[in-house]
Amino acid sequence: MDFTIDRTPWSQAAGDWLIVGVPENAAIEGALRSLDEALGGSLVRLQEAKDLTGKLAEVLPLRDVRGIAATRLLLVGLGPVEQQTDVTLYKAMITAARHISTKEGLRVAVALPTHAASGELPAEWIRATATAMQVGCVGQDLYRGERARFAFQHVHLLMPESSNEEEAQAATAAGFHIADGINLTRELVNQPAQVIFPASFADRARQMAEAEGLSCEILDEEALNRERMGALLAVAKGSDQPPRVVVLEHRGGTESVPTIALVGKGVTFDSGGLSIKPNDGMLTMKCDMAGAATVMGVMLAVARLKLPVNVVGYLGLVENMPGGRSFKLGDVLHARNGVTIEVHNTDAEGRLVLADVLSYAVDRGADYLIDLATLTGACVVALGEDVVGAFSNHQPWCNSVLSATRRCGEDTWQMPMYDHYAELIKSDVADIKNVGGRWGGAITAAKFLERFVSEKPWVHLDIAGPAFASSSKPHREGGATGVMVRSLVELLSTFDAPIE
Ligand code: BES
Ligand code: MN
Ligand code: ZN
Repeated sequence: MDFTIDRTPWSQAAGDWLIVGVPENAAIEGALRSLDEALGGSLVRLQEAKDLTGKLAEVLPLRDVRGIAATRLLLVGLGPVEQQTDVTLYKAMITAARHISTKEGLRVAVALPTHAASGELPAEWIRATATAMQVGCVGQDLYRGERARFAFQHVHLLMPESSNEEEAQAATAAGFHIADGINLTRELVNQPAQVIFPASFADRARQMAEAEGLSCEILDEEALNRERMGALLAVAKGSDQPPRVVVLEHRGGTESVPTIALVGKGVTFDSGGLSIKPNDGMLTMKCDMAGAATVMGVMLAVARLKLPVNVVGYLGLVENMPGGRSFKLGDVLHARNGVTIEVHNTDAEGRLVLADVLSYAVDRGADYLIDLATLTGACVVALGEDVVGAFSNHQPWCNSVLSATRRCGEDTWQMPMYDHYAELIKSDVADIKNVGGRWGGAITAAKFLERFVSEKPWVHLDIAGPAFASSSKPHREGGATGVMVRSLVELLSTFDAPIE
């Protein structure tokens, strides 16, 4: 998206909309006061009439306004001044962007607020605003004749006198890079399984890598056989679509900087296989590659931001289908690391895919691992649709990841990993089985994965709930959400090996 950032006074910024944040329970002062004067005192009157509350993300659109250069004015609540952070600003600004992005070709000016206490504009606030503009104007209506949402033609960010021009430019660009990552993840997830299947997903990864200067390796079926990825290959057997594993590398750090592996579950469609899902459970299963799509989005942003870290992204891509060649209940699979797995349910396929890709990532030299997966319905039962489940074998690394998610306002909750949960996946005929019974299903799935990380510091993020939203809210579009892209970019932007 085309953007400029400068010190134009708010009332003089031309465009189809001027977006202005208004704090809750605070007087109209500073730049807001000058705007109010240009508007002939409208803001104070609206505030007195309680039409303008400043409540977080509450919007008040005013059309055909006089006294300012923009033709329309969108007032958006910033919440109580003392509680303002880049997280609250993001919510306000994305709500604003979503409110107006229903028309084509809009030119939008955005007034950047300053921190009440310091009077300064933090770089993170600029970044959050840029990201919100770019994410908020992209929808899930990929195939609708009558589109509901349109990218802005131009965004003009208005910064205060005190801001440093170069820093503001850099923060804006960074915000757009992160948004491009989020939107890439969303687009891949929102595409139907007839468009995104393992081979086409791998092609998209190759194109992205070429454009962004990442190195990219694609393992086809033959290479996966050579790697003896017996668990992943078993899942792929029922489908006419051959599997792929994609490795994307960004080496931004020196050799002494540890390597972080991001491993994504990429089941491009999960029918359940022979343990077939009922219609309602299957309906949204194009989203079962959200983990892999998240890794793609993060790698895009990391490359654009040129982060000084070593990150390798792994995408485990398969389609889970019933058919004459499907893997079956009772089959014993030989995972790449030698662990044998008895199949009790072909719908518990994500852990089989991740098992082989995790051990592959370890053998390729990962020092720290994070996997992302729409892994279990049980995690959604436990935490609801909007919270990511975190599971780990290493508390310091888990703390680093959790603290990044908290700084971004992406809700995450750690689940326990007591030894006794591992009893539940013991098998009579093999080392382990792929389901753990009725209770604690999100945790037994994580205990299963733990067998494949060779005691390397590892965090498993179960995004089954938050990756795909059943309906829209004012601050987020329904469908794919791009959850965890921001948090992982934040983690990698501030990466320092955790202290043990
Ligand atoms: N992809 C599903 C999990 C899922 C459910 C993701 C809902 C997003 C929304 C996964 O492969 C699955 O089917 N898990 C089973 C595991 C069970 C058979 C042990 C589940 O959760 O029912
Ligand atoms: Mn499944
Ligand atoms: Zn699945």
